[in-house]
Amino acid sequence: MAGLPASLSGQDVGSFAYLTIKDRIPQILTKAIDTLHRHKSEFFEKHGEKGLEAEKKAISLLSKLRNELQTDKPIIPLVEKFVDTDMWNQYLEYQQTLVNEGDGEARWFHSPWLYVECYVYRRIHEAVIQSPPIDDFDVFEESKHQNFFESQESIIALCSHLQELLCTIENLEENQLKNEFFKLLQVSLWGNKCDLSLSGGEASAQKNNIISSLEDLKPFILVNDMERLWSLLSNCKKTREKASVVRVDIVLDNSGFELVTDLVLADFLLSSQLATEVHFYGKTIPWFVSDTTIHDFEWLIGEMKGSSHKWVSKCGAAWENYVRTGRWVYQDHIFWTLPHEYTAMAQVAPDLYAELQKANLILFKGDLNYRKLTGDRKWEFTTPFPQALRDFHPAPLCSVRTLKAEVQVGLRHGQGEQLAASQPGWLTSGQYGVFQFDGPL
Ligand code: F6P
Ligand code: MG
Repeated sequence: MAGLPASLSGQDVGSFAYLTIKDRIPQILTKAIDTLHRHKSEFFEKHGEKGLEAEKKAISLLSKLRNELQTDKPIIPLVEKFVDTDMWNQYLEYQQTLVNEGDGEARWFHSPWLYVECYVYRRIHEAVIQSPPIDDFDVFEESKHQNFFESQESIIALCSHLQELLCTIENLEENQLKNEFFKLLQVSLWGNKCDLSLSGGEASAQKNNIISSLEDLKPFILVNDMERLWSLLSNCKKTREKASVVRVDIVLDNSGFELVTDLVLADFLLSSQLATEVHFYGKTIPWFVSDTTIHDFEWLIGEMKGSSHKWVSKCGAAWENYVRTGRWVYQDHIFWTLPHEYTAMAQVAPDLYAELQKANLILFKGDLNYRKLTGDRKWEFTTPFPQALRDFHPAPLCSVRTLKAEVQVGLRHGQGEQLAASQPGWLTSGQYGVFQFDGPL
């Protein structure tokens, strides 16, 4: 398409993309290798010698991957036969057609960062599935669990807040309900600070009570479309016929503390009758270190249900019940772990696009979703959000994201420049956030 801005890429030396490929990804790979190593005796106990051989094989495949990346070798096709292998290999062929210099090979530092970074996680998965009998091992699971346990105090505060709120929710005036909705939206936004990919796999837990920090964090919200979310959902509630469905879809991001914030918001949506159903989308394979898989989703709810803290346990039990009765629906789709921008979804995954069209509102959590929504391109900061979405409009949608990549659209004139002058790391520190809405006014 004429006039389409270039993709962010590692060829811009010193950029965040460059530093991620050069430093952060090798660090994540090293940590994954180390994790496999530390589980050696567990593999032996479970599978005997075969477990040890598998551990060695997975480690050697990951070391090879790290070496390919660090020496900027050509990106190679996947070799196993998983459901999406052909799609990945076709995508590589497409990337090769975009290379018009050198030997025509797509390389780590010259290809689009979005593609390269997704490819790393798919290759990590490849290394594991090629190493049976440990082929269902999630190299990131430990860190996801650690994040959850280290955030306990904040989780207790949040669950207590929710349970107190639910006691009075039916008597709240419209304005009070709106206030509570805004609070829990902001909790879910700041929950996105806790991702383990930005921190290179190191702990990134929520230590303090996030609710009491909301006022102080308000100035860090650069685009705030919360009012539009409220009008959309409160109108649905007012005009809804009895027994008709109001559906909010949440495209999940990180497990651990962030997932708790999303589930608290989802519980509030049902309890306040702003929605009658919530659908969640998670990842089919371990992804960007901390992203939620079905195992994480079920593990976290089970863990909360079994908690010795009354309100945490009450949340876990209620959430399990929402899933059992179908008011919460967890879905996954291979598209979420492909490298495509969302503008390609209608063509690449028409079934998923059609599913999203059934929602009254879709919340896209986190930074990677934002990169895929906007194509991870060098847009001007003032580019209107709908323009960057490039015809991706399955339903009214909102990005709920803390900024961790050098792409941002929809800002006021001068806003980006001002931030760049006063806060050099504003685009990537995770300190700033947006609620960026696209839908009817
Ligand atoms: O390297 C940092 C990073 O991997 C970004 O590239 C990526 O967008 C982000 O972390 C993941 O963040 P989130 O979990 O919010 O999608
Ligand atoms: Mg993530």
